[in-house]
Amino acid sequence: MQTAVISSPFRLSTISTHSRIPSRNNASIRLPPIRMAHTETGPSVAVVGVTGAVGQEFLKVISDRNFPYRSIKMLASSRSAGKQLTFEDKEYVVEEMKDESFDGVDIALFSAGGGISKKMGPIAVEKGCIVVDNSSAFRMTEGVPLVIPEVNPEAMAHIKVGKRQGALIANPNCSTIICLMAVTPLHRHAKVKRMVVSTYQAASGAGAAAMEELELQTREVLAGKPPTCNIFSQQYAFNLFSHNAPVGENGYNEEEMKLVKETRKIWNCQEVQVTATCIRVPVMRAHAENVNLQFENPLDEDTARQILKEAAGIVVIDDRASNHFPTPLEVSSKDDVAVGRIRRDISLNGNYGLDIFVCGDQIRKGAALNAVQIAEKLL
Ligand SMILES: NC(=O)c1ccc[n+]([C@@H]2O[C@H](COP(=O)([O-])OP(=O)(O)OC[C@H]3O[C@@H](n4cnc5c(N)ncnc54)[C@H](OP(=O)(O)O)[C@@H]3O)[C@@H](O)[C@H]2O)c1
Repeated sequence: MQTAVISSPFRLSTISTHSRIPSRNNASIRLPPIRMAHTETGPSVAVVGVTGAVGQEFLKVISDRNFPYRSIKMLASSRSAGKQLTFEDKEYVVEEMKDESFDGVDIALFSAGGGISKKMGPIAVEKGCIVVDNSSAFRMTEGVPLVIPEVNPEAMAHIKVGKRQGALIANPNCSTIICLMAVTPLHRHAKVKRMVVSTYQAASGAGAAAMEELELQTREVLAGKPPTCNIFSQQYAFNLFSHNAPVGENGYNEEEMKLVKETRKIWNCQEVQVTATCIRVPVMRAHAENVNLQFENPLDEDTARQILKEAAGIVVIDDRASNHFPTPLEVSSKDDVAVGRIRRDISLNGNYGLDIFVCGDQIRKGAALNAVQIAEKLL
């Protein structure tokens, strides 16, 4: 299966043939998809930010899942206008995004940053386009569904393509998606009262340029040179630091507050108590998160493991004997979120607390895959 090619060390390399993590419980067997990508009846699609880390993954996911489309517009900034791009055996030219870009477009997948979404999202909606936005611009806006298809598809049930009625749907923050993919099945069973999240976040979460910087710094440090710091203000290679998002008055950074606020909106549960600490680690791709959970109702670890084994989009990697648990490398370019280290929280009496360790590819399930799954629900 062919996908997009734009020259950059990261963008050229992986042509992902599709991909679930081999499951030890056989829960992840996938039937081969029915090929239906190019079709006269499919929606016309625009990919905004197509040259970026998420934009490139949009194309891979569209191809891998055979998302049906009548046409695709490849949109980015003036910097990329005119670049050639091959996608599914067809040549495309990247266009500079303008107001007219959305004329006749049914679904626009946006990943060009919050400022661009704020400016161009409403213009696209005005033209009858359904915008699935990866930025934080509209996530907390009342009336804009914030959707993880496995968790709260009902939030967007009223929005369908074909009516030419524009709408906005927000993709949650990548850390929130990965966390709630694992925690929601447990929440449905025992109701989460309090959740403590500690993240170990990859370079890819900060875009293609951050991945390039991590690679460059690694080479520089190994060669005894001072590291180039353009994207991050401090050395990233062979180091880790508090997430680079701005820190608010309460001492939490924006990434941490997204976990708090988005969880409440997605679960429609204002009373859930959430705290988070977000850390950047020098991993190229895929986030890891430790999640400590306190429940209202008892939930023992065997039941939790079974619930997770049966959950859509989850694979359990929890082999205590060989000390094998989820790793970012194992989930890179994969659809499933991996969960392991499932254990009773011994600081609480009874079965009212669990610790779990979760890994997920945040460019894939944390961004592009989730958005394309949303788009599938619009058809
Ligand atoms: N990376 C992740 O894991 C992740 C996860 C969830 C959400 N997101 C969100 O997705 C968005 C993009 O992230 P990314 O990691 O893909 O960033 P990225 O690799 O830096 O890509 C940014 C993209 O936006 C385009 N762009 C910039 N200015 C533009 C403009 N004025 N008009 C049209 N396009 C413009 C860029 O085009 P040029 O090449 O022409 O500059 C590029 O295609 C951000 O809002 C981010 O928060 C990212």
